Amino acid sequence: IIMVFLTLMIIFINNEWHTSSSGKTFPTFNPATGVKICDVEEEDVDRAVGAAKAAGQRGSPWRRMDTSSRGMLLHKLADLMERDRLLLATLETLDTGKPFLQSFFIDLDGSIKTLRYYAGWADKIHGKSLPVDESFMCLTKHEPVGVCGAIIPWNFPLLMFMWKMAPALSCGNTVVIKPAEQTPLTALHIGSLIKEAGFPPGVVNIVPGFGPTAGAAIASHMDINKVAFTGSTEVGQLIKEASAKSNLKRVTLELGGKNPCIVFADLQLAVEETQKGALYNQGQCCTAASRVFVEESIYEEFVRRSIENVKKIVIGDPLDPQTSHGPQIDRQHFDKIMDLIKSGKEEGARLEYGGAALGEKGLFIKPTIFSGVKDHMRIAKEEIFGPVQCIFSFKSPQEAIERANSSQYGLVSAVFTTSMDRALSVSAALETGTVWINCYNALHAQTPFGGYKMSGNGRELGEYALAEYSEVKAVTIKLSETL
Ligand code: NAI
Ligand code: MG
Repeated sequence: IIMVFLTLMIIFINNEWHTSSSGKTFPTFNPATGVKICDVEEEDVDRAVGAAKAAGQRGSPWRRMDTSSRGMLLHKLADLMERDRLLLATLETLDTGKPFLQSFFIDLDGSIKTLRYYAGWADKIHGKSLPVDESFMCLTKHEPVGVCGAIIPWNFPLLMFMWKMAPALSCGNTVVIKPAEQTPLTALHIGSLIKEAGFPPGVVNIVPGFGPTAGAAIASHMDINKVAFTGSTEVGQLIKEASAKSNLKRVTLELGGKNPCIVFADLQLAVEETQKGALYNQGQCCTAASRVFVEESIYEEFVRRSIENVKKIVIGDPLDPQTSHGPQIDRQHFDKIMDLIKSGKEEGARLEYGGAALGEKGLFIKPTIFSGVKDHMRIAKEEIFGPVQCIFSFKSPQEAIERANSSQYGLVSAVFTTSMDRALSVSAALETGTVWINCYNALHAQTPFGGYKMSGNGRELGEYALAEYSEVKAVTIKLSETL
């Protein structure tokens, strides 16, 4: 049924479906089979920005809408996503290859909760009255930034869409969203739900397309006031440059990671959590637990148990509920991962498990474990973004902290220990935007997420994200006497 339904997916602007003005389309594939799912119409950023700008003008229905009604609209959209949860999870799995139960429970759950969280904020975004000097009164007001661009990656297409759209709308902005070229399908279904929920036309516009064309057009557009991006560090740099050279639009970036876990104790929990962290979503996570540092005295046992644990993974058809591990996103990415695995073998890391593709066909890579990894190796430094767990050993906490921090990245880290003193002192020393203690990938709509150093700028989620989507206006009033 889905195959018939998806003959051609088109562009969503002003609550209407459009074909591209250039007449261009591009195919999207199921990475588990290599079969084309459908063709998608390409870009039209200018038209979308025009619609978003008009929808966000002062006096427009969206700007005049009660903030509580804005919140209700976001809740309505969340209700519709719950209604269509099965369809959305199936589309997400077809387009990304991620196991169905993960799409259904993790991606959909996170997306719906993010919407509801920001629905709740819509009528609670307010300024202050300030005790200023002399006979003045100052009020601050939080206003929308304007048209917000969002450039979405392929690893969590729906979730990243919501991380960007939900706070933007909650603060009263309008949006132009470009899904990744590999995974446009769930975004386009959200377009139809936006219309059904009753958002005014032009508030949300969805433009499928490629990075160097549609993505670059968003980054350099003179009428876009803010852009939020998740993806590679290299493209993050291009986006900041494009912003600087165009209109200095605000930029938030969520980029790569080479995320350290430091394991002192609680062996079995650490084995399970760090491995899940390394391999979840076929390793295609900015939060991947890609450097696991284990205290020397428990190192051998940790490696042994990790090998035992990895055998529980079921590789197969992503639509099969038994499957816990699917294919990589596309051929290019598959080749990058295989090249890094090869470099690990050549540079002398010990291959404990996996290390090869699964058969000749498809884009499946066996979950892979390397032990004896040294800091100078490519697999220790580069973001693999594939199902590869790298295990290192350390002698002292100080040494582990220094090595964990010696990276250009600073996204997330984790500490496994039974001592709360140690957990807190190590977490204070780690240069990352998130530190997980005795857990991994514990992401919540309420908790800010973002990176130190080259892992990015700004924060998504939580109350902190509201500041990224609001302008603060100070209104200072001269009074005849001090009150
Ligand atoms: P990418 O950074 O090229 O793609 C992410 C998004 O940026 C896509 O929507 C793409 O169309 C867009 N984009 C690409 N070039 C652009 C440009 N010049 N201007 C504006 N937008 C542009 O990432 P890619 O090539 O898919 O993957 C390369 C590596 O990036 C991965 O191996 C991984 O290491 C990292 N990555 C990190 C992600 C994260 O969650 N932080 C997500 C995806 C990739
Ligand atoms: Mg790229």
